[in-house]
Amino acid sequence: MKFFIDTANVEEIKAAYEMGVICGVTTNPSLVAKEGRDFHEVIKEITAIVNGPVSAEVLADDAQGMIKEAKVLAALDEHVVVKIPMTAEGLKAVAALHMLGIQTNVTLVFSANQALMAARAGASYVSPFVGRLEDIGQDGIALIAEIADIFAVHGIATEIIAASIRRPTHITECAKAGANIATVPYKIIMQALHHPLTDAGIKRFKEDWAEANQ
Ligand code: E4P
Repeated sequence: MKFFIDTANVEEIKAAYEMGVICGVTTNPSLVAKEGRDFHEVIKEITAIVNGPVSAEVLADDAQGMIKEAKVLAALDEHVVVKIPMTAEGLKAVAALHMLGIQTNVTLVFSANQALMAARAGASYVSPFVGRLEDIGQDGIALIAEIADIFAVHGIATEIIAASIRRPTHITECAKAGANIATVPYKIIMQALHHPLTDAGIKRFKEDWAEANQ
């Protein structure tokens, strides 16, 4: 499983990319709005940092509007992946964009059927939301496993991005369930890389070294 970072914050992206952990970025309108910056400017800046897929989401509700926005977004950089919501109009847009060679990430996926239909429409990625399913008492990890099984059985190349990751254990669970990618907020990346025994071990090594070399 690969890591993407789920943020529109350029400093967080730089820090995670420098560590070598992430190879892509996902944003959404809420994350971009939080930064209070021009949407296209932020996406361009992110593509200059990360040499990998950068998802940028459309806002239109109709297929024609989505396609129009998608063309503008895709023209920003070759690594832009257009994020399209999982609706009937969204699927029409995905199918049309697939024909044009524009990569898409179908977002707000909450069932295996939605993932399968998005894949068949030509989505490059599907994004099932683990945390938001858990928010309503459903099993987000089971959904990842179900989609991974279906895609494997049918030889579907669409990649599964486990989204709405809320805690470090989600990362392990998504990797075991067969997600191709987990898109993870910076805070959770930092929580996941730390372990108190690692910190204690470093301290002890330094103390032992200092004592022996007094
Ligand atoms: C992914 O593409 C979404 O932007 C994101 O993971 C949503 O996460 P949230 O449910 O924590 O807002």
